[in-house]
This record gives sequence, C-alpha cells and structure tokens, in this order.
Amino acid sequence: MENRKLAYINTWGCQMNAHDTEKMKGLLSLVGYDFTDKQEEADLILFNTCSIRQKAEQKFYSTLGMMKALKQKKPHIKIGVTGCIAQQEGDNIHKAFPFVDFTVGPQNISMLTDALEYDSYVSLITENKQLHTNNLPAIRSDQRRAWVNIMYGCNNFCTYCVVPYVRGRESSRPYGSILAEIGQLAEANYQEVTLLGQNVNSYNGGCPFHTLLEEIQKIDRLKRIRFVTSHPKDLNDELINTMATHNKICKHIHLPLQSGSSRVLKLMNRKYTFDEYIDKVNRLRLKIPDMAITSDIIAGFPTETTADHKETVRALTEIRFDGIFAFKYSNRPFTKASQMEGQVDELVKSERLKEILELQDNISEEINKRMEGGTYAVLIEECTDTTQNLYSGRTQTNKIINFNSPRQLAVGDIVDVKILNGYRHSLDGCIVNT
Ligand code: 5AD
Ligand code: SF4
Repeated sequence: MENRKLAYINTWGCQMNAHDTEKMKGLLSLVGYDFTDKQEEADLILFNTCSIRQKAEQKFYSTLGMMKALKQKKPHIKIGVTGCIAQQEGDNIHKAFPFVDFTVGPQNISMLTDALEYDSYVSLITENKQLHTNNLPAIRSDQRRAWVNIMYGCNNFCTYCVVPYVRGRESSRPYGSILAEIGQLAEANYQEVTLLGQNVNSYNGGCPFHTLLEEIQKIDRLKRIRFVTSHPKDLNDELINTMATHNKICKHIHLPLQSGSSRVLKLMNRKYTFDEYIDKVNRLRLKIPDMAITSDIIAGFPTETTADHKETVRALTEIRFDGIFAFKYSNRPFTKASQMEGQVDELVKSERLKEILELQDNISEEINKRMEGGTYAVLIEECTDTTQNLYSGRTQTNKIINFNSPRQLAVGDIVDVKILNGYRHSLDGCIVNT
C-alpha cells in the first residue's frame, strides 16, 4: 500500500484564504498527503496566513514561534508559510524563524508541491499574471456549499489596504471555466455557491458580472448563488436588476462603506461619497425591498475627527445595515495611509469602535426581531444536536437561524422555518409543514 503522509493546515483570514486552503489540500492529496487536526502527528505543517490587520499577523507569529521546539524534536517535518504574510514578508520569515522550510505566496499556490521537493529553504512569491487560468483541484470542507473563485487580486488601492500588494493586480477567470466548475458542483449535489473575488462586480472574464450570474442561474439543481465582496463604486443598475429578477441569487449584498464621512472616504481612495453610497442603497432597496445589506467599517482612520466619527454613527443609524464587520484602523506595510500624518490614538479608536459596535448590535436586533412570526426558506448547514433534532442554517438574506424539527433532516436541504425569536446575531424558530 502507498505510504501516505499527514498534513496539518492552520488557516487565518477571509473566505478567499479558506478556499485557498481547500485547493492546497487538493494539490497535496495528489502527491500523497492526507489531513489531520493534530499538529503532533503531521509530517507537513502549513500556516495559511492573513495580513489584513496587524492583530492577525501578531497571532500568526506567536503561533509560528511555538514550532521551534517541535521542529527540534522532529527535524524531518516540513513547515511552510503560505498566504498574504508569506507574500508580504518573503525571506524575512525565514530570517527570523530559520526552521521554516518554505514560503509560498497566494499567487503561487499551484507551485506548492514544487516547494516540497526542495531540500533547502525556498521562497515562491513571484507575481503570477496567469493566476486567472488556474483550475486547481479542491478538497472542500463542506459537501453542500462551495466557494468558487471568479477573480483574483485588486486594482483599487484603498489607502489602508495591503491586498493589492500581496494578491497582485485584478484578473478575472474566464466565464467558461467558472460555469464548468459550478456545473460539476451542481452535479455533485452542491446546493449553494459563493463566488469569490476582492471586487466581484468589476468582473470581466468574457462577460460582465450580471451576465455571469444570469448564466449561473441556468445551472440545473443549483439552488443558491452568493458573492463577496462588492465595491460600491462598481454596483450598477444591471446588477441590481439581475438580483431582482433571478430567484437563485440570494437577497444579500456585502457592500463595505468603511466610513460615513466623505472627507475620510476621499482619503481612503474609495472613489465614492457618502451621498453616492446612499443612492446605491436606495436603488437596491427600491428594486428589492427585502434585500439584506451588510458592511465593513473602519474606526479611527488617520486624521478621523470626532465629527467624522459622528458621521459614521449617523450613517449607521440612517442606513440600518443588517450587520457589519467593524475594525480599528491598523497600519499596514506599503500602504499610503500608514505614511499619513494624524494617526489616531489607540484608545480613541477603541472608544469609537465600541460605540459603532453597540449601535449596530441594537439595529441588528431590531431588524431581526421584526422577522418574528414570519416564515423563511432556510438552507440547513449543520445539525447542532442529533438527539434533539436541532439544526442551524441560513435564509437567503444570510441570517443564521437555529431551529428544531420533529423529524430528522438532512444538511443541505432547504426547509421552511417560522421565526420565534430574533437576537443580535442569530434567530431561532421551528420548522413548519413537514
Ligand atoms: N485596518 C483596518 N481594517 C482594514 N480592512 C482592510 N484593511 C484594513 C486596515 N488596514 C478592513 C476593511 C475591509 C475588510 C476586509 O477589512 O473594512 O473591507
Ligand atoms: Fe482592499 Fe479596497 Fe481592494 Fe477591498 S477593494 S481588497 S479594501 S484595496
């Protein structure tokens, strides 16, 4: 029998990174690896890293530091660093942690197995202009919901963001290969796909983004289509109309606002004003009244004044997002914002973030409470308690619903659930008509 090895992969960051891990697993499996959750028994340890904020980076370095003892005990194991910190830091990682065997950047995943062949340290972090032609095998973590890359990189250069430097220039995957992958997923009984890109609505892999969605809608058996992330500047009426008229496209959009102050938005190089953002939200809600809108907010961008912060607070009150991810501004290497004068004090950032999060929690709770008594189609994601038939799933609007059922249900099924209680970050209910 073939002597297979074991790999342990620790993944940080966004859905893009989580899907990169699935592809790395696909590649490693081809060269004789299985996977383990136990670091101690692994022959290969990979850290798939995120550098979007400093905190994530620090966590990674402290975890990596702990590998020194393991490597001393078991010198034969390989330790690799992949993802955005690998790209950002390259050889610096090896200089600080000489026991690291290789670094592979997010644009070079297809060469991961080459890195394993080297006897000495190697760094594969070159720009890959052909990334959009990648068609790598994946071992997916979920049997019913799948991530699908539609584009790579980013051209926007928001002044706070490291992504354009580590993930390279924007390139769209040809629509034919996207449709082929989703067709195969649907055949394999996947119910939902989430299309991934830093800026999906500037997709241009042979057709515009809304046309790609319309083609995916035609794929038999597939039930739901999601996508992340959308840039407000590229959200157009064609996309809104397509979302309104195609029932598989989930009525949810993640549309990062970042700040409610047009002055700060300009410094962030977001290319829209607050009024332009509001106009897009109004258009969306006019065409699709039950549309859920979520967002990202940065607290304490350089030069942000109390008045700017109040504009963000006012924006949240006015827009009433279904949910947000909010973060303190964090200085990132290479970025323009890290060189700006007027960096905001950490304590001030924390206070502003707290106010933002508390306000949003109340808004989310009010919105979720209004769903009480209504019945919604829920795609079951998980059985949380087999003895009591408790399940967790999501509505099209991306609300997490916990519910019970008198009979056993299958993960991946779509069922009607009546909402009993709405909370800040989830709702609970019971199944109807089974
Ligand atoms: N500091 C804080 N938040 C950031 N984001 C990106 N870069 C930074 C940074 N330097 C946030 C943005 C983006 C989300 C993915 O991460 O809000 O939309
Ligand atoms: Fe970063 Fe802006 Fe690109 Fe998003 S759109 S990845 S925030 S540069």
